[in-house]
Amino acid sequence: MPGLNTSKSMSETISKRVDSLLLQMSLREKVGQMNQYNGFWDVTGPLPSEGESVKKYKDLKDGLVGSMLNVTGVPEVMRLQKIAVEESRLGIPLIIGYDVIHGFKTLSPIPLAESASWDVDMIRKSAEVAATEAAACGINWTFAPMVDVSRDPRWGRVMEGAGEDPFLGSKIAIARIRGFQGEELSSINTIAACAKHFAGSGFSEAGKEYNTTDISESLLHNVVFPPFKAAVKAGVKTFMNGFNELNGIPTTGNAFLQRTILKENWGFKGFVVSDWCSIGEMIPHGYAKDKSAASNSAIQAGSDMDMESYCYIDNLEKLVLSGKVDEALINDAVKRILTVKFELGLFDNPYKYCDITREKKVVGNKVITETVLEMAKKSIVLLKNEGHLLPLRKKGLNIAVIGALAKDKDSPLGSWRAKATENSAVSVLEGLSAYKGNNVTYAKGISLIKGSATFVSELEINTTDRSGIKEAVSIAKNKDIVLMVLGEHAFQTGEGRSRTSLDLPGLQQELLEEVYKVNKNIVLVLMNGRPLTINWADQQIPAILEVWHLGSQSGNAIAQVLYGDYNPSGKLPITFPKSVGQIPVYYNHKNTGRPTKPSNDLVFWSHYSDQDNTPLYPFGYGLSYTSFKYDQLKLSRDAFTKRESIKVSVRLTNTGNYKGTEVVQMYIRDIFASITRPVKELKGFQLVSLNPGMSKQIEFTIDEELISFYTANQKWEAETGDFELMIGGDSVKTVSILFSFID
Ligand code: BGC
Repeated sequence: MPGLNTSKSMSETISKRVDSLLLQMSLREKVGQMNQYNGFWDVTGPLPSEGESVKKYKDLKDGLVGSMLNVTGVPEVMRLQKIAVEESRLGIPLIIGYDVIHGFKTLSPIPLAESASWDVDMIRKSAEVAATEAAACGINWTFAPMVDVSRDPRWGRVMEGAGEDPFLGSKIAIARIRGFQGEELSSINTIAACAKHFAGSGFSEAGKEYNTTDISESLLHNVVFPPFKAAVKAGVKTFMNGFNELNGIPTTGNAFLQRTILKENWGFKGFVVSDWCSIGEMIPHGYAKDKSAASNSAIQAGSDMDMESYCYIDNLEKLVLSGKVDEALINDAVKRILTVKFELGLFDNPYKYCDITREKKVVGNKVITETVLEMAKKSIVLLKNEGHLLPLRKKGLNIAVIGALAKDKDSPLGSWRAKATENSAVSVLEGLSAYKGNNVTYAKGISLIKGSATFVSELEINTTDRSGIKEAVSIAKNKDIVLMVLGEHAFQTGEGRSRTSLDLPGLQQELLEEVYKVNKNIVLVLMNGRPLTINWADQQIPAILEVWHLGSQSGNAIAQVLYGDYNPSGKLPITFPKSVGQIPVYYNHKNTGRPTKPSNDLVFWSHYSDQDNTPLYPFGYGLSYTSFKYDQLKLSRDAFTKRESIKVSVRLTNTGNYKGTEVVQMYIRDIFASITRPVKELKGFQLVSLNPGMSKQIEFTIDEELISFYTANQKWEAETGDFELMIGGDSVKTVSILFSFID
């Protein structure tokens, strides 16, 4: 596939090599390339002797496996690659896939946290070091980035995405893809990326994992598709479909998505892998009567590779021989897969990612460690800071640190932790210990129930044992500051971890309230993978710092922010609701016909009667230790036509006492259109660093593309009319001005 930097002559050569290889392949071998198996054998032990592993081993030797996932480490990859290359008839190398979501062994913050940095250059670097480490351990391909837009924090996988906004999500998708794939896919530091899950799984009903999605045409094109489309433009090599059905048809068997939109309209030349067993899962969906029918639907729909459901390997050959499936579809899928393998350089040297000395040298090296630390600092969001409680003085304070998460070296790793060693993150307590001028006393308050990757029974935080609360209260008394580290443990978010309550889990709220009774100088350090409903804390606790699950360097980043060695600049990429009942609550909603309260206090307007409509913290929100002022908003002209553009500028001033970075956000509202439009949509952002007292003029360009959307004409186009433009430090507090787009 001609990716960003695959030159024309190179892709022509690859295309010729693919064609000539295809001519030598039997139908069965072609189907083999479309077959992906999960790692099945500890290669350091004896050969597989029973069960599925025997079949998998035989298929590998027979050239009937195109890819494997969940095999990591140079010796393991090398062993399997050797079988594929040296024992199968055609010696086609495997492409080794793995979920390198936010790092491989050394972890960056979870993707939602990274997105809070709005720093696309940093996010690209973070993906780059993840790719370097993974590639050094034999990995060729990551199942990332997840570019699903989501407005529902009940969905555990919000931690894996870029939040609720398609514009921000698109920019981050591009950054991650460029980071993983680099300038040249055949370089030993890069891996193929995968935009997933195409499409709509972020809109699963009621935020319940794997649930049905029913999404209107307008929502699909205007909100769900943009990050995927951006991924194609960025040259992403692969796509993954999903577990969800979309408007009645499972995405895996959905030809509209994979053939019409992705491959035809967007011209995607890479390959599509199914989600884990999602071809076979079309049977319980009630869409395919058996595995043969499921295989037929999936291949017709454009799913090129079967992840672990054995559907293709057991059925596709027969389907072609019986005339139900045209062999041209198989050829197309295989060409796509082989092309990516060629681009990775696997045919030129299948063992190029298998250098044990390099593995040892690269993993956890200085550059990687420094990068994840920098990323972690940039991901932190200051939610509240009454009376400038933060940053902390470096000397002479007596500090109580409370909460098991403060000592936990595991939770910061999150649930998609790839090969990170358990308990390998720097804890908050460890991070604080670098600051020796203050006196720190710790109590856990209540214990974490150790989470695990797969067992539901272990997902909770202690709900019954209050025995540690007393000690926590007693150490909090008479301290200058109480740092309470509360939130979710690693495995409470992620795949399969949808929740109906977003309150602080377990007895943590009770612990917080008990401590508050004896000391009000609390800094709440929130460690979590999704928005939580922390109304009480927002009303009572003077300082709140959102630190998410920050990865390997978590505690160091948190300590540097608490002590002001790093001034936080993160902004929320997803709205924090006041209650679960408000969900979905997101900034780019429609206006309705009755948006405002009638003056006579009637109830007949769009609102809740038991809670207001505003969220707890809006999209784009985040404070700094300094303050910023926006003024002098000006347009170069107040109207423009097709092929023209106008500039808008605003003056940003650092009005506080610290050097700081502001994420300047530009929103636009299309006031009247062929379909109703959101009250505002993010259309630009810039990170601007300023010293105290300094000002800077910030400029954005507005052109036709920026105001285009999927209209009633079922086309992506701009409509003439009036627009409101808003600029500010979040999606609510803005200064605004009007402009027009004219014929
Ligand atoms: C997830 C995918 C992931 C795959 C392989 C599935 O359960 O939905 O996102 O890439 O497993 O681990």
